[in-house]
Amino acid sequence: MTVPVVDLRSDTLTRPTREMRAAMVDAEVGDDVYGEDPTVAALEARVAALLGHEAALFMPTGSMANQVGLRLHAGPGQEVITDHLAHVLRAELGAAAAFSGITTRSWVADRGLLDVDTALAVMVPDGGAYQVSTACVVVENTHNFGGGTVQPLADLRRLREATAAVGVGVHLDGARLWNAHVASGVALADYGACADTVSVCLSKGLGAPVGSLLVADATRIGQARVWRKRLGGGMRQVGMLAAAGLYALDHHLDRLADDHARARRAAEAVALVAPGVVDPATVETNILVLDAAAAGRTGAELATAAAEGGVLGYPMGPRHTRFVWHLDVDDELTDRATDVLADLLRRRGA
Ligand SMILES: Cc1ncc(COP(=O)(O)O)c(C=O)c1O
Repeated sequence: MTVPVVDLRSDTLTRPTREMRAAMVDAEVGDDVYGEDPTVAALEARVAALLGHEAALFMPTGSMANQVGLRLHAGPGQEVITDHLAHVLRAELGAAAAFSGITTRSWVADRGLLDVDTALAVMVPDGGAYQVSTACVVVENTHNFGGGTVQPLADLRRLREATAAVGVGVHLDGARLWNAHVASGVALADYGACADTVSVCLSKGLGAPVGSLLVADATRIGQARVWRKRLGGGMRQVGMLAAAGLYALDHHLDRLADDHARARRAAEAVALVAPGVVDPATVETNILVLDAAAAGRTGAELATAAAEGGVLGYPMGPRHTRFVWHLDVDDELTDRATDVLADLLRRRGA
């Protein structure tokens, strides 16, 4: 009997369910570059309303949603600031510089947690003719490389107030805002109110095969439509993809709580045999980051050893390995993965 591999490299790995595929096949479509795809329009209206903004724009990827969002705040020679683990800095291949001439600065943030005082200290609202002016602060919620960290609403609100007072924008990278909402119980619109522009992804925990949205006021979304086309992201009969997103919102949002519970359960089991490797209290959503170095391994070594046991994770720098729960990992697979990880770390620690 072959034992199934438990693939926890990312929540982007989910495959569309049979029901989602059926919804896609039946979708009404039109040419979305002409603004004529009714299913895309329905998805955009729904997501804008959920986040309490005027409008939304369907995007092929979260990276494009982020980068168009940043472009609406900043142009060549202006800067965007965020924490050192932010996806827009670490994993979008320098797009802000390459496409928009934007410079960036960052600060070190424990688990990617928003540190409002430091953000405000780093921010230069009006650098005049000498210093680069900050156009925008980026906040990631949940924070991916931080370990699925949920940003406290009070901090988001304080940042929003302080930046608005000096004319600096806020972009929320909400690729996993759904997870933050389910974990914290904070309404999506309350998160939405803390930013001028928000990106959300359908292709992560929600399980759609592709698709993200940029959300903002109607004027900004009009500008975003131009930038999307300029970057080659104008799409045609993509109502089929939007239908997957609508299906995901109907059927896969609440179940994110299951992913969170499974990640936490795995963290608790690992902490029991190797307490320094993870603090289960920090596992708030679907992402488990293990401190492999605390067990005498590098992040890559732990990923390799886990893979030999049939559990795939993602090495995140020299000391950490990330494991992400999602739609395709049930309780049984969670138990298997947990046993493999606990066994590896116990043996090493013993
Ligand atoms: C926090 C965050 N933002 C943005 C993205 C980019 O999404 P995409 O892979 O669709 O470009 C990701 C992808 O993992 C992410 O984790």
